[in-house]
Amino acid sequence: MGRNKCPSTKANSTTGTTPMRYKTSEEYSTFPLMVMEGSEYSPNQCVFQNDEYGIWLYHANCIEFMDMLIAKFPEGKFDMIFVDPPYFLSNGGITCHAGKMVKVDKGQWDKSSGAEMNHEFNLAWLSRCQKVLKLNGTIWVSGTHHVIHSVGYAMQQLGMKILNDITWEKPNPPPNLSCRYFTHSTETIIWAAKSEKSKHLFNYDDMRKMNKDKQMKSVWTIPAPNGAEKIFGKHPTQKPVALLERIILASTNETDLIFDPFSGSSTTGVAAINTNRRFVGTELEREFITLSITRLKYAIEKRR
Ligand SMILES: C[S@@+](CC[C@H](N)C(=O)[O-])C[C@H]1O[C@@H](n2cnc3c(N)ncnc32)[C@H](O)[C@@H]1O
Repeated sequence: MGRNKCPSTKANSTTGTTPMRYKTSEEYSTFPLMVMEGSEYSPNQCVFQNDEYGIWLYHANCIEFMDMLIAKFPEGKFDMIFVDPPYFLSNGGITCHAGKMVKVDKGQWDKSSGAEMNHEFNLAWLSRCQKVLKLNGTIWVSGTHHVIHSVGYAMQQLGMKILNDITWEKPNPPPNLSCRYFTHSTETIIWAAKSEKSKHLFNYDDMRKMNKDKQMKSVWTIPAPNGAEKIFGKHPTQKPVALLERIILASTNETDLIFDPFSGSSTTGVAAINTNRRFVGTELEREFITLSITRLKYAIEKRR
């Protein structure tokens, strides 16, 4: 596929947006390929690249990756960052999946190391995200109670400006099998600007239009990903594409550069392709890299 070519001008079926030609300057059309040494944590390699659509996925440890970016771009590089970090909830609890009682075990990456270590980890990636954001850039972080309070506190420690906390309500949550708690049916997504000085972008009119010409509230009801979003395989904490599209449409312009440090199955990348934004992602697990590449290729094919 040629570089700097114009994506198709067909309107996108999901968002109604019309693909736009990327500016031809090197800065706009390509993301500099990061050449990194492999480390004991990851091979640190670019594993998928499409300059035409502005999509770059790295098999990399996001902490090492951001350290490299900070050295290269001290003024920041990204217009928006979406973070769906490890929630630290795979600790022997139970939940209901497809009508069966199953252990909550999403993987080694999701195990807790205790409140203090978890907070230290959150500070480590969040402080780097703050540095790789442009001055007026914003960050969205999703999480359950296992992680989100630590993230909110870390944002305050780092002097970020909290703009909203969105409640994402899932209309069909799995039942609570123990009958000792309310059924968990929400996640929180904190939206914050890099600093108090940031002049953040909010596409107020677009959100209003999307909400039948009424101001959009901070409670969003969006179903969990359906079968169609999992045709190529599943990620245990996959986010719905519709959720990411709304986040992207609310806080970025077309061709803006978005980063997702914990990409998982690259839902953010798929939503970026659908909305004509550029995307950089990092993910550690090979299995999710393979799934991501299939999803990203499919999303690009659908846009043509
Ligand atoms: C909560 S999931 C993200 C799911 C994603 N939002 C999606 O829709 O598929 C977090 C992901 O972060 C990855 N991960 C954990 N630590 C990482 C690190 N240091 N660098 C890069 N990825 C990491 C895990 O492998 C996991 O896939």
